[in-house]
Amino acid sequence: MTLVKETDYGTPARDPASSVTLEIDGKPVAVAAGTSVMRAAMESGVRVPRLCATDSLEPFGSCRLCLVEIEGRKGTPASCTTPVEAGMKVTTQSAKLARLRRGVMELYISDHPLDCLTCPANGDCELQDMAGAVGLREVRYGYEGANHLDAAKDESNPYFTFDPAKCIVCSRCVRACEETQGTFALTVKGRGFASKISPGDMLFLDSECVSCGACVQACPTATLTEKSVIEMGQPQDSIVTTCAYCGVGCAFKAELQGNDVVRMVPFKDGKANHGHSCVKGRFAWGYTTHRDRILSPMIREKITDPWREVSWEEAVGRAASEFKRIQARYGNDSIGGITSSRCTNEETFLVQKLVRAGFGNNNVDTCARVCHSPTGYGLKTAFGTSAGTQDFDSIDQADVVVVIGANPTDAHPVFASRMKRRLRDGADLIVIDPRRIDLVQQPHIKAKYHLGLRPGTNVAVINALAHVVVTEGLVDEAFVAERCDPAAFNSWRAFIAEERHAPEAVETLTGVPAEAVRGAARLYATAANAAIYYGLGVTEHSQGSTMVMGMANLAMATGNLGRAGVGINPLRGQNNVQGSCDMGSFPHEFSGYRHVSDDSVRAVFEEVWGVRLGGEPGLRIPNMLDAAVDGTFKGLYIQGEDIVQSDPNTRHVTAGLEAMECVVIQDLFLNETASYAHVFLPGSSFLEKDGTFTNAERRISRVRKAIPPRAGLADWEITMALANALGYEMAYSHPSEVMAEIARLTPTFAGVTYEKLDRLGSIQWPCNERAPEGTPVMHADGFVRGKGQFMITEFVATDERTTDRFPLLLTTGRILSQYNVGAQTRRTANVAWFDEDVLEIHPWDAENRGVNEGDLVELASRAGATTLHARISDRMQPGVVYTTFHFPGSAVNVVTTEFADWATECPEYKVTAVQVRKTSRPSEWQEHYEETRRDTTRRKGRSAEVTGG
Ligand code: SF4
Ligand code: SF4
Ligand code: SF4
Ligand code: FES
Repeated sequence: MTLVKETDYGTPARDPASSVTLEIDGKPVAVAAGTSVMRAAMESGVRVPRLCATDSLEPFGSCRLCLVEIEGRKGTPASCTTPVEAGMKVTTQSAKLARLRRGVMELYISDHPLDCLTCPANGDCELQDMAGAVGLREVRYGYEGANHLDAAKDESNPYFTFDPAKCIVCSRCVRACEETQGTFALTVKGRGFASKISPGDMLFLDSECVSCGACVQACPTATLTEKSVIEMGQPQDSIVTTCAYCGVGCAFKAELQGNDVVRMVPFKDGKANHGHSCVKGRFAWGYTTHRDRILSPMIREKITDPWREVSWEEAVGRAASEFKRIQARYGNDSIGGITSSRCTNEETFLVQKLVRAGFGNNNVDTCARVCHSPTGYGLKTAFGTSAGTQDFDSIDQADVVVVIGANPTDAHPVFASRMKRRLRDGADLIVIDPRRIDLVQQPHIKAKYHLGLRPGTNVAVINALAHVVVTEGLVDEAFVAERCDPAAFNSWRAFIAEERHAPEAVETLTGVPAEAVRGAARLYATAANAAIYYGLGVTEHSQGSTMVMGMANLAMATGNLGRAGVGINPLRGQNNVQGSCDMGSFPHEFSGYRHVSDDSVRAVFEEVWGVRLGGEPGLRIPNMLDAAVDGTFKGLYIQGEDIVQSDPNTRHVTAGLEAMECVVIQDLFLNETASYAHVFLPGSSFLEKDGTFTNAERRISRVRKAIPPRAGLADWEITMALANALGYEMAYSHPSEVMAEIARLTPTFAGVTYEKLDRLGSIQWPCNERAPEGTPVMHADGFVRGKGQFMITEFVATDERTTDRFPLLLTTGRILSQYNVGAQTRRTANVAWFDEDVLEIHPWDAENRGVNEGDLVELASRAGATTLHARISDRMQPGVVYTTFHFPGSAVNVVTTEFADWATECPEYKVTAVQVRKTSRPSEWQEHYEETRRDTTRRKGRSAEVTGG
């Protein structure tokens, strides 16, 4: 390995359609109109010295290092801010320019500590490079008099330091925070010599900074530097890989010294992130070396026994012999497997293959069940395929952006930054969410409409929006006539036009003023391009699938499909939710969403896999747990998932697991579910293996092994070993061979190879003969299913109702610095921002209950009770409370119920009737949890303490 270099000056030309020819240092060069002279020079192979300019930011023109001479013009203009003109003659090198540049550099260096040899940026410092480039050999001005060399360091951020003594006030950091991240945390305070960079006159940690790292990336000096670089020194090697946190799928360079990661740097050529990152992907990778990592396979007879470390052979052998014993005693269908949306496509494909071909049943499910299964069902019904319609770049063409039940600034931060940029550039925003999420109002952004609906009334609101479209003559008749099924459209039009769907008719039910619904509908329907982005606030409802179809109806009726700037875009929670669904992890579908009952599809798999396959769908996760409680389901293999913490109604989950005779967990840590396990197989982190992830825009990206698996085997190798021990042979020598099998068996992946992924960087499926390099925008020439299918979306209220006993509604979500069940982020320094789930409660509801900020409160539903500390917040509407579920000790899913989406059994996390009251002690469940945790820690002799990483 060596350090990977990105494309320099990769920013797209402003107007690629029209070309301008000019001369640079006597050589003709043709560039797009609007290109800067600096970039034109770069394209002709000439590097003009620069400090305040960088290809990822708008030019600023402050450092005066990039001066050039232009024939016929006075003075020496800054090349970074001067646009090209036809026939221009530019000189970049002359004695005069050299003298001027040296003078500029001399001034910078005279107020800069000359400690290059001991500086952490030594070898990676643009100031140092530029001093060399302009030939500065001596500095005439000393440190005497006023200078900034004694300025105090700010080391409050856990991941980077701010050393103002090294700052040249080039303002790149300020601009990165504004333009790239959209947070506006930094300002230049003061003028001239007194000017300095400030995170709002406070420490970074206390400021608005969200620790995305964009300023650190942009800084040309060592002023903003990663602490890991200060501690370890400059990296020697790097390899490009994909973030293992959220569904944005950012590309990173893992920069290394031997087998140690020094830092993760967002990759400028990454097509999902274009060089940007968030605090999780950029900095929160320390969990991979956390002392809680389990590095030896372990077994035990009973779940009350201590764990015993054993060899891989013994652990895998035990799992296989137990599964065989259980099947011999209780029948073929008494065992199953769960794949993970955190693992690679290749790994999930192998787990479902193991279940179908090795176990001989279809009892395989995935954690995507509990988040986006309604997306699969709804979009497949409407359009014919289960995927978001656009690429992320599409947002740049949107004129109206609708965000429904999603909180991108916390859950999909890099895409949120992109979205915010588009909103600052003029697109209008509609937010449909019970909570006033950050996007509703923040610097330079204000939603035109925030429809703060009551949880559980999504379908009533989407129907009301569609009613306005249909009854006010806003239907795109030409699009519907050409692209959609006419009979289905006509019956939907008649249904939705009924007065009972009018915004006024549902106002009391939804809590949304009718005028706001009418205004939002008109804005969406009359925009040239309107795009819907949505999240789990849509899917995790008893009518999740109905809502997805409701959004599809709205987009079809207004013609907002099939081109850039429009579409229906699910924001996937975990890194590989899309991939785990694509790979056939659901019990009723093979890879590529083909039903197991289809004889012709089964025949293809049978031929390649060499076994007979069942045509009946298997058990979903909730069915497996029900069957376990009933005594018919006895063994479970879980790869990379913690169902005790993540799935609803924890008591039911643990009852199911307790009833099983062999639970095999493959994970990085002894997670909550491992408390009920008999075999533990230590998994590998994303840094330790090869494979691919598929992000929310269907983009397949490579995961590349940066370091060897710490426990000895990559996850795909573990599944393979288990299959072989069960007597079903798997013999892959590399995940590329698994991908070759996926491509052979899955029409939408037919053209995907590792060689092509390496060549193109990433590929959006479908990728096959018709689209050899992938498909950025779906349904451009027609829907996958042929004609778009309008569906009747009758609103049916959830059975979960508020009562006198449980008068409030609980809804749940995520926070930026933590991720999902927190197994990774809790084991990093991200706890500096958030180390406990809290209950957000409206001031009225708090006052009624005598609850003050920080009080311990009991949160009780008919499923169970837990306790949390209260945070009084008017982001919630009265009658609604909100929390996150990142910490196992808060046991939020003890409270959520077993209600689920009617079509897919996706749990209804977003609506639980609860009561809140002050308390002074933890719930019974939490006391039980603490006891178990102490016990596990004692038996394992490990600390479960959270530490920085
Ligand atoms: S902190 Fe870095 S990027 Fe910001 S002004 Fe100073 S030198 Fe420039
Ligand atoms: S880390 Fe990100 S949010 Fe924080 S100051 Fe830098 S650019 Fe702004
Ligand atoms: S936005 Fe998502 S994929 Fe990108 S760095 Fe953050 S967590 Fe990783
Ligand atoms: S790089 Fe052009 S003025 Fe700084």
